[in-house]
This record gives sequence, structure tokens and C-alpha cells, in this order.
Amino acid sequence: MNVAVVTSAHDFRRACQEARVDGELALVPTMGSLHAGHESLIKAAAQWAPTVAVTIFVNPSQFGPGEDLASYPRERAGDLRKCEESGATFVFAPETPAEMYPPGFQTWVEPGPLARPLCGERRPGHFRGVCTIVAKLFALSRADAAFFGEKDYQQLLVIQRMALDLNFGIEVIGRPTVREADGLAISSRNSYLNREERQRATALWKALQAARRKFAEGERDPASLEEVARQSLEAEGVRIDYAEVRDPVDLERPSRADATSRLFLAAFVGKTRLIDNGELGAPR
Ligand code: PAJ
Repeated sequence: MNVAVVTSAHDFRRACQEARVDGELALVPTMGSLHAGHESLIKAAAQWAPTVAVTIFVNPSQFGPGEDLASYPRERAGDLRKCEESGATFVFAPETPAEMYPPGFQTWVEPGPLARPLCGERRPGHFRGVCTIVAKLFALSRADAAFFGEKDYQQLLVIQRMALDLNFGIEVIGRPTVREADGLAISSRNSYLNREERQRATALWKALQAARRKFAEGERDPASLEEVARQSLEAEGVRIDYAEVRDPVDLERPSRADATSRLFLAAFVGKTRLIDNGELGAPR
């Protein structure tokens, strides 16, 4: 294994500082259990900058009570191999939560209206936890760019806004969702699914495609497009958390959908909550 691993915030800051002397630094924050979605971000980062820092940290503050913090998959050896193969220069993997949240920690980053709807409404405090950890990673690394997936589109917008509002001077770059052959968005949480649930999990992709077909037929009413998605999800036997058409920039509800409007989906397949989203006007 050649990829260097640092486990303390102090060493991470120093490694980033040294890397920035030689050129630009790109950051890829993750919670580990890495898959092809993460790998695509690391590869994009490696195209962008000579040094790529990947962070692996299951951030407790973004999980709510009753969520899957304890069971979240952890696969250190495989993760390091994937980082190396995808072009990471070094990895920051704190060994304990206390490395990022030492005793006495009390300062939080509170996002604004972009964090209110969708997952913000269903997971109170989630984006506050995300913003706080990402702000800390931005402050430690002082990276030139950071890469995030459109799979978590609301997270991408919230972090882009935070980077502007708090003057990090870091370019926050979004990358397309990587999918399985049958359309399922790849996610670390897909490992929770049994064989039968894995088949049903394509429901989100099918609902997105159904809404896109309706849009292509000329439907522009957001409620009607949402209804098509809901019916599709219900037909597949998954429990809907939300199915909403939103503006891609401010996440407001449009009075009329256009090709750039996005459908946002969250649904429970068994006990596993999955999310997906996409442009209504995207090619099918
Ligand atoms: P995690 O879920 O590990 O995701 C890390 C990054 O990978 C995020 O930017 C996410 O959008 C991206 N990603 C996940 N699945 C993807 C897929 N199928 N295609 C493309 N990109 C994908 O998101 C988090 O961790 C955390 O909230 C974090 C930002 C690290 C803060 O703790």
C-alpha cells in the first residue's frame, strides 16, 4: 500500500500544507466504505490537481437518533486500496470521533434555507453536522477544490453556499451520479439490502424515468410529475419519504417545471432509506 495515511488533524494540516507548496490540492471528503461513486470523485480530483487528499470519517454529528451511525459500513483496507487505485495522494482517516470533536467542542456551522426542505426536513440537524465537518476539513486542508457527488444534490448546494458565505476560497465541484447497470444509484447503504430488497431498490430510478417520460410528453405541472413518480414508487412496493420537483439552484418549488428542474426522491426499501435525484429534461 503506497498511499500515505494520516490519522491526526495536526498531521493532516501539515500534509496539506506541504502539498500546496508544489501546486494545487484537491479534496474528496467521504465517510468510507468506498465504491465506484467515490472513485469517480477521486479520479476527477486527480485530473484537476497534482495532489488529492481523501478523507474517511463517519461523522457522528450528521446522524440523527435512531439512524445508522453504529451500523454504518466500515472497510478500512479496501478503502485504502481504492483510494490508491483511483489516484489519491494521501488519506486522512481519524481513528476516533474525538479527533474531530475533542472535549469542549461547541461551535457549529448552521446552514440556511437550502438546508430546509427535502432531507433537511426529514433529518433535522443533518446538514448542520455535514456543514460543520466539511468546514473543518476545508479549514484544515485549505484545498483549492473539493469534489462532491450530485447523488447528494442538496448537500452539494448547501456546501457550495457555505464555501461562498464563509469565504473558504475553495471551488466546490459537483460530479454526476454513478449508477449500477440497472439504474440504482450506487451508495454505501446499498450493502444493507438483501437480495429481494436490492431488486426493489431500482424503484427510485424507475420513478425518475417515469417522471422524465411524462415530462418529455409535455407535462409541466410539478404536482402531476410528482404524482407519476409516487405511483411508480408505490407500484414497486417501497415506502415514499418524499417525491418533489424542485429548482436546481434554490430548491424552491417551481410553478411550472422546465428541463433543468430536478425530481428529488427518498424512499424506504425495508428499513433502508435511499435517495436519488435527477433533471427532468435529461436524456432517458
Ligand atoms: P459519503 O456518503 O461517503 O459520500 C462522499 C461523496 O461521494 C459525496 O460527495 C457523495 O455525494 C458522493 N457519492 C456518493 N454516492 C455517489 C454516486 N453514486 N455517484 C457519485 N457520487 C457519489 O456525503 C458524505 O459521505 C458526507 O456527508 C460527507 C460530505 C463526507 C460529510 O461527512
